[in-house]
Amino acid sequence: MKEYNIVVLKGDGIGPEIVDEALKVLDAAGDKYGFKFNYDYRLMGGCAIDATGEPLPQETVDACKVADCVFLGAVGGPKWDTLPGKQRPEAGLLGIRGALGLYANLRPAKIFEPLKSASPIKDSIIGDGLDIMIVRELTGGIYFGERGRREVDGSPAAYDTEMYSVPEIERIARTAFNMAMKRNKKLTSVDKANVLESSRLWRETVIRISAEFPEVELNHMYVDNCAMQLVRNPGQFDVIVTSNIFGDILSDEASMISGSIGMLASASLADGKMGLYEPIHGSAPDIAGQQKANPLATILSAAMMLQYSFDEKDAAKSIEDAVNEALTKARTPDIYEEGFNKVTTSEMGDLVVSLLK
Ligand code: NAD
Ligand code: IPM
Ligand code: MN
Repeated sequence: MKEYNIVVLKGDGIGPEIVDEALKVLDAAGDKYGFKFNYDYRLMGGCAIDATGEPLPQETVDACKVADCVFLGAVGGPKWDTLPGKQRPEAGLLGIRGALGLYANLRPAKIFEPLKSASPIKDSIIGDGLDIMIVRELTGGIYFGERGRREVDGSPAAYDTEMYSVPEIERIARTAFNMAMKRNKKLTSVDKANVLESSRLWRETVIRISAEFPEVELNHMYVDNCAMQLVRNPGQFDVIVTSNIFGDILSDEASMISGSIGMLASASLADGKMGLYEPIHGSAPDIAGQQKANPLATILSAAMMLQYSFDEKDAAKSIEDAVNEALTKARTPDIYEEGFNKVTTSEMGDLVVSLLK
């Protein structure tokens, strides 16, 4: 039997609750399609700070490097919010993305048919549906640039630096063009080239790389306009490629069109098969430990893992189908609508497992 070795980072807040459901679903998919997962549980984030004093222990990095891939819940929470930047849980997440070279973050924003009525966006705007792939650059830009504090005119000041090199832009552009080739051959590059020099280099580079992909229709959009267009006419987008910070913000916005941030999965990829899979949302401290979290984004991240790291396309598709069917029967509080069964985190996981069988 095929065996896959996965490092599991449950993280903080709702992390452990949602990861438990996704692992149940993965095991059920393995039973059905004839493969097995070995889980190696490690610490990252606030839980790692509490246990070891640092957000990303070296042994976690070492374990991730030899695993087939990494599966993550979410990190962070108020308990660690007053720590200096490098010691925060979020630094652990940025650190593991950097250490594994995970420069390409795929965030598919799509609306499942049964959830159309749960979206805060009007039916007339959603139209035939929503199916956008946001390709977010993940190991560069302002999240990784130089930052610090200094004094300016006698007052304390702080700075962060947005910087992109040509090779960094080239590789994420190629990822996005290749993605567009597999989809509807339409790519929107989002920047702020009317103000930022780094965006002007981004745009020039994307245009140059477009020559390698003559079949893809490329357009450019300023990020402020894109934020508006996403709610005005989301159907105009197929693939969006953008920087680390713009992709972070736009993907949270796009998630809401799908009904809830609890629905959006992601894959963070390097060259090769290494990947880290996680929902796009955070540790949701406001609902942690209450069995209120929607586990579907995490379950859909498990499906992305099967697709992108293991090429188990049938198993991935069957998880997506089971999620779609579960949404016709039951809802967690974030996507609740009258007439549905209101379920807990683990009841939703159990339902997906039962529909998978
Ligand atoms: P968040 O995504 O954790 O929560 C925002 C809102 O969405 C909250 O009201 C929360 O209850 C809700 N929500 C999120 N996921 C949900 C789910 N699965 N089901 C139902 N509701 C859900 O963002 P935040 O509040 O800005 O951040 C909280 C902490 O998480 C911070 O420490 C932040 O740094 C961290 N964070 C971590 C990640 C990650 O680990 N990848 C991502 C984003 C934020
Ligand atoms: C995300 C999160 C992270 C990010 C934080 C927690 C570092 O918001 O994965 O979207 O900004 O990348
Ligand atoms: Mn985010």
